[in-house]
Amino acid sequence: MPTDLVPSADEIAVHWREEPRIDPPTDFSRQAQVRDRSLQEALDPSHGPEAFRAYADLLTWDRPYDRVLDASQPPFYRWFPGGQLNASVNAIDRHLPDAADRIAYHFVPEDESAPVEHVSYAELSRRVNRLARLLQDRFALVAGDRVTLYLPMVPELPVAMLACARLGVIHSVVFSGFSGKAAGDRIVDSNSRLLITMDGYSRGGQWVDLKAKADQAVVDCRSRNHRLEGLLVFERTPHHYRSESPIRTPGEFILTDLLEGISQDFCKPVSRESNDGLFIMYSSGTTGRPKGCFHGTGGYLSWVAATTRYVLDLKPQDIYWCMADIGWITGHSYIVYGPLVLGATSVLYEGLPHWPDAARPWRISEHLGVTILHTSPTAIRALRRLDPDLPQRYATAFRLLCTVGEPIEPETWHWYHETVGHRRAVIVDTYWQTETGGHLLATLPGLDAMKPGSAGPPLPGITAAIYDETGRKLPPGSGRAGLLGIEHPWPGLMLGIWNDPDRFRKTYFDPLQKGAGSDRWIYCTHDAATWSADGYFRILGRTDDVINVAGHRLGSKEMESAALSVAGVAEAAVVPYPDPVKGAVPLLFISAQAIVSHANDLVPAVAQAVVEAIGPIARPHAVILVSDLPKTRSGKIMRRILRAVARGEEAGDVTTLANPESVSQVRDAVGKSLAAHPTPTSDERS
Ligand code: WT7
Repeated sequence: MPTDLVPSADEIAVHWREEPRIDPPTDFSRQAQVRDRSLQEALDPSHGPEAFRAYADLLTWDRPYDRVLDASQPPFYRWFPGGQLNASVNAIDRHLPDAADRIAYHFVPEDESAPVEHVSYAELSRRVNRLARLLQDRFALVAGDRVTLYLPMVPELPVAMLACARLGVIHSVVFSGFSGKAAGDRIVDSNSRLLITMDGYSRGGQWVDLKAKADQAVVDCRSRNHRLEGLLVFERTPHHYRSESPIRTPGEFILTDLLEGISQDFCKPVSRESNDGLFIMYSSGTTGRPKGCFHGTGGYLSWVAATTRYVLDLKPQDIYWCMADIGWITGHSYIVYGPLVLGATSVLYEGLPHWPDAARPWRISEHLGVTILHTSPTAIRALRRLDPDLPQRYATAFRLLCTVGEPIEPETWHWYHETVGHRRAVIVDTYWQTETGGHLLATLPGLDAMKPGSAGPPLPGITAAIYDETGRKLPPGSGRAGLLGIEHPWPGLMLGIWNDPDRFRKTYFDPLQKGAGSDRWIYCTHDAATWSADGYFRILGRTDDVINVAGHRLGSKEMESAALSVAGVAEAAVVPYPDPVKGAVPLLFISAQAIVSHANDLVPAVAQAVVEAIGPIARPHAVILVSDLPKTRSGKIMRRILRAVARGEEAGDVTTLANPESVSQVRDAVGKSLAAHPTPTSDERS
């Protein structure tokens, strides 16, 4: 464990203090879907995993499963083995007999003058089946194939995911704000046969030419000897192609015409074994390459259905709006699969939350009658900064407000509770990760007291604890920070890392497995946390090389290798720098090779290289050129020192460094550079 990254007691003390607990409003508790502790008791790990049957029962199975859990090859746990089901049937078909006319998505275009599109379950079914037919008949896709989806926040994205799922094709969605190059990497790694994209979309009033970025991905694939069999392009407005990039033949197709040529509205769903793959979602980790988190079908769907129901308290009569992007795991689990499996109605919003002004979310919520809102601390901070009194002027009717992705400081929490929620709504702070499929820590909204700044206790069926550097469990209330681990498997945990089983065990289970031959398999989250006497966890942040920017995970190694690709750069190191809106932004230190004569020219080139490799979300807050980075005698760059100096904190003991004099030089360069960089905007794509 990188012990220098686990916060010390002093560092914890500068964090916010313990906040008093607040009970959920009785009106909420009376109608909540969890009103007693029976679920929690049944799922207590002392009884084994049997009670997870109740979670599997939330799904429709084609064939019943043989067993609840196959734990014969840890850490590769297999849930509900032998069971067969199809994800698109669970998300759509099973609602058709009784609720075909219910709205699945109210699609709100960013352009406020464009009408809201109301997509019913029947309409969703029609679109999904037609696309599935096309993929099957024209492109000969079969179960187990991979397809990359590079699509914005439009109904075509869930439609494409579900069309893949209908055929048993594994989808890999790449966030549309990522660069074409980043998309190319993921297409190659997943060995996708097709890329599905759109001509473009609207973001902050600007047209983003997505097809042009997709071209870059195709070029990137070709240079790495990966041949895509097709590039399929939706039109944001059917029959009105708007990209600057032409459709090239052979191999590129406009989907509008192809779909109109499909004569049937039904495509037979392919029944999948519970542990067959459903999707890959790439996420950043400790090494350079992003890793493909590979999720299965039965376990994943049961976990997202149960947590959507019990933690978000979502009911068919709700109007639910999750402001995340489907290109990240939150959108997969809590815009697509969880809500659809429960037959709920969601808002799908194309654009920037504060476009054209900060009142947009409140206008949408008032107009559509949103009852449950789900967003990130970054979005809440941004809206609050723009106008802290605004939400009060709207007749919104939120009964539950969810926050996810980064720690929320009590001040922001209270604003969310009081101003957005009018003190009537329950707040749930949900802690989880791409790897975990769904929530791990959260308060059960009708039962548990809320505590600003703490995600809460582990959910029913989850056993969480914190561990010190020797792997020893720290008791609740110790006042110390430790590494957060999960002791027993749960159905949402991913099947593994795509194409790299070894890395799965090494990354997530080795850190907390002490002693050879030990049969302890504890999932390591790589987050530091404290555990208070009341059993609530407070997340302090990542202990690995991941930087959490606006609730999104960026790998420092990926940014550093992009910087090092610029000719003349000798060394690069990225550290998180606190930001009042995004939580943190990347600060990139570089040094130049001795032969470089105009080293200052490297600064813009490096920033550009990072944006091209990953996307605008990774744009460094500043690129800081120094003549030497602080290093140990063995040559390891001391990021801890860079981080402290950037924050204006004491560097600590520098006597063991190979080049202690570098520290004051770093301090000067930071001072000059940061004075020239005001707070960045809050759009992750700008
Ligand atoms: C990392 C996972 C969870 C879906 C969105 C992000 C941080 C997540 C919280 C929270 C404090 C949180 C952790 C975690 N994180 N939720 N409620 N409080 N920190 O998924 O991209 O896989 O990122 O986000 O550091 O490890 P992800």
